[in-house]
This record gives sequence, C-alpha cells and structure tokens, in this order.
Amino acid sequence: MTSTHTIAMLGAGNVGAALARNLIGLGERVRFGVPDPQKHRALAETLGADIGSVADALDAADIAILAVPYAAALDIAAAVPDWNQRILIDATNPLNPGLAGLALGPSTSAAEQLAARARNARVVKCFNTTGAENMADPRRLDGGVFMPLASDDAEARAVVSALVARMGFDAADAGALSAARYLEPFAMTWIHFAFAAGAGRDWAFSRVRRSR
Ligand SMILES: NC(=O)c1ccc[n+]([C@@H]2O[C@H](COP(=O)([O-])OP(=O)(O)OC[C@H]3O[C@@H](n4cnc5c(N)ncnc54)[C@H](OP(=O)(O)O)[C@@H]3O)[C@@H](O)[C@H]2O)c1
Repeated sequence: MTSTHTIAMLGAGNVGAALARNLIGLGERVRFGVPDPQKHRALAETLGADIGSVADALDAADIAILAVPYAAALDIAAAVPDWNQRILIDATNPLNPGLAGLALGPSTSAAEQLAARARNARVVKCFNTTGAENMADPRRLDGGVFMPLASDDAEARAVVSALVARMGFDAADAGALSAARYLEPFAMTWIHFAFAAGAGRDWAFSRVRRSR
C-alpha cells in the first residue's frame, strides 16, 4: 500500500510546477505556498492543486518542498517558529548570479545552512541535480533518472526515497545531510554541461552497473 501525503510546494516556478504535476498524478495532495497566490492561481487550478500563502500551505502539510531561490529558502526556513518534525525537502542550489558557480561549499552546503535555521525540521536534500523539465515525468527519459537524496534522519530518507521512486526516478540514498556538499556541485556539473558545454537541457544523469 502506498501512503499519500499533504505536500506544501513552496514556489510555483519551473521546479515547483513540474514536481507538483508529477505528485498530483500520483494522487498526492499538493498546496502551493507563494508570496502572491493570485499570480499562480491558474496554474494551480490546471494542475489540481490548492494555493495560498506559505503559512497556508504549511498548515496541514507533512512534507514541504523548497522550490524557491536559495536566499528565499533561508528566509522561509528561519521564519517558521517550529517545523514540528515535518520533512523539509531542499531542492535549491546556492547559485551565483548568471549560473556562475556555487556561492558556498565545499565545507558546508545550502542544505546544512537551511537545517541550521529550520527549527525541528527533518531536512532532506533532493531534486536539485537535474533540470526541471526532467521532473514532471522522468519515465519519459531513456534509462532511470538518477535522483540522490541525503538527510540526517533515516526515516525521512526512507519516506522520500519511496516517494521519489513512485515519481519515476532512480532514488539513491546518499546518507547524511553533509552529502549535500557533493550533491550541490553535482548539480553544477549538470548546469555546466547544459549551458557552457552546449549539451542543452534534455538529458539527465543515469546509473549503469557491471553485471559481474
Ligand atoms: N530550474 C531548474 O531546472 C532547477 C533544477 C534543480 C534545482 N533548481 C533550484 O530550484 C529552485 C527553484 O528554481 P526554479 O527554476 O523553479 O525557480 P523559478 O522558476 O524562478 O521559481 C521560483 C519560485 O519561488 C517563488 N518564491 C520566491 N520567493 C518566495 C518566497 N519567499 N516564498 C515562497 N515562494 C517564493 C517564486 O514566486 P514568484 O513567481 O511570485 O516570484 C517562484 O514561484 C532554485 O533554488 C534552483 O536553484 C532549479
């Protein structure tokens, strides 16, 4: 039996919309939380999601996804007085303007900075390592779309792994949240190939294994 969740999708841009489309297709309840709900109301109605303020979205949510710029994510994390053990999935990358590299690392990560501010949250790094176009329906790509995730909370990793697998990704448990120090530069590798190296956005990392 698969459990359904009430998911606060914080951000309704490229990543928030794509993840919401995927999750709603699985029967998950999604509420967008954005600064100006009216701006994204038509999108929410098309997808079959609710929409409101960040506080509205968090109200009944057991999982929240940060699909906002990193600076906004820091503010959101700190503004909630008590995350009440909610799973807080960090999809951000701490990008410099113009995609000119990462603003922090390698001895810390965006995910760890968020965890330090999000009181009583179970932070999971996930969804940051591929382009938004690959998130709505990863099964459309040939081969499994590699989707690493990291958290200091083993149960949260298991819950997110199961969800990510249902979404059609190749879920890969990377262990402790400090692994985000590797997952964020890994995202930068995708960005480098997509833009600077001219590969475009229609591809994703996938795993292959030796048979013996
Ligand atoms: N794009 C990708 O392919 C990709 C892939 C992996 C990870 N990421 C990461 O995912 C995050 C989102 O990227 P994106 O491309 O989806 O960005 P985007 O299209 O610019 O969307 C950002 C969304 O965040 C909302 N927002 C901004 N401040 C907010 C706040 N304080 N509270 C709630 N919502 C807020 C924006 O609302 P308004 O529309 O009202 O401004 C917008 O809906 C970034 O950290 C990015 O690095 C992106």
